[in-house]
Amino acid sequence: MRIFEQVSAMQQACRELRQTGTTLGFVPTMGALHAGHLSLVRAARAQCGAVAASIFVNPLQFGPKEDLARYPRSFEQDCRLLVSEGVDLLFAPTVEQMYPPGAVTVVHVEGLSEKLDGKSRPGHFRGVTTVVAKLFEIVRPQFAYFGQKDAAQLAVLRKMVRDLNIDVEIVACPTIREADGIAMSSRNVYLSPDERQQALCLWRALSRVRSLAAAGEHDPKKLISAARQTIAAEPGAQLDYIEIVDPDTLDPLNELEHGALVAVACVVGKTRLIDNILLPRY
Ligand code: PAJ
Repeated sequence: MRIFEQVSAMQQACRELRQTGTTLGFVPTMGALHAGHLSLVRAARAQCGAVAASIFVNPLQFGPKEDLARYPRSFEQDCRLLVSEGVDLLFAPTVEQMYPPGAVTVVHVEGLSEKLDGKSRPGHFRGVTTVVAKLFEIVRPQFAYFGQKDAAQLAVLRKMVRDLNIDVEIVACPTIREADGIAMSSRNVYLSPDERQQALCLWRALSRVRSLAAAGEHDPKKLISAARQTIAAEPGAQLDYIEIVDPDTLDPLNELEHGALVAVACVVGKTRLIDNILLPRY
């Protein structure tokens, strides 16, 4: 695996790869890699002749009171994992490389960026779209792989690609979970053993919605109220939001006719956790 810190060197290596006629797949990450990230790499490996990944803890997507300074970092271990998954190119730039002094241009998907996590984390999605647009421009992949785990991020990035005519196909990959159902996340390392148990309430609430819907309860208001009860039964968790929305527009739904995204966010201890499921068409 070749590792690049400089934008120009990564750009050059990707250009050379593309010129050989190889299909280039790209997996952007913030590192602290787990099985969820590696599932994206595997999907890329299966579909593309060459795979590029990036590790960059993007300061632009963290709010002033968020966990940028303590975000978990495990670069050496991450590199070993990416090598064993057959990644060809790794881009691991410094903050100065990505945002040189004087850089002022941002990419903002209006409206969608203010929904779900965007509501509780102002500026977050603007940071995500700005860095991903830059990464797409540096790598110019044919395919880019993102996790369904971050469903709102996926919707915002799909809209950005459509609106800006970026020539990349976004591939959504299923959420990878621990055996007890909790979604894998780099932030799970923040949880104490007690908090780890409390964090299960997100999955419990989503599972309750799924089984109620399967049993015939198709009123989003009633489903949300059942999910709220499940979260409220866990005093260690503070609910941020639970919503049933259209997966593309992220607007709340009044019926489940066309399939729905059930998205939840909670704070457990000091850690903000998100999870979601997609419901079938009823
Ligand atoms: P990060 O949180 O490191 O996640 C990188 C990618 O891994 C995202 O597409 C995310 O959805 C996916 N992922 C995380 N946990 C997953 C799981 N349990 N199952 C499947 N996929 C999972 O998301 C970001 O970084 C950043 O916002 C980024 C897109 C890199 C821009 O900075």
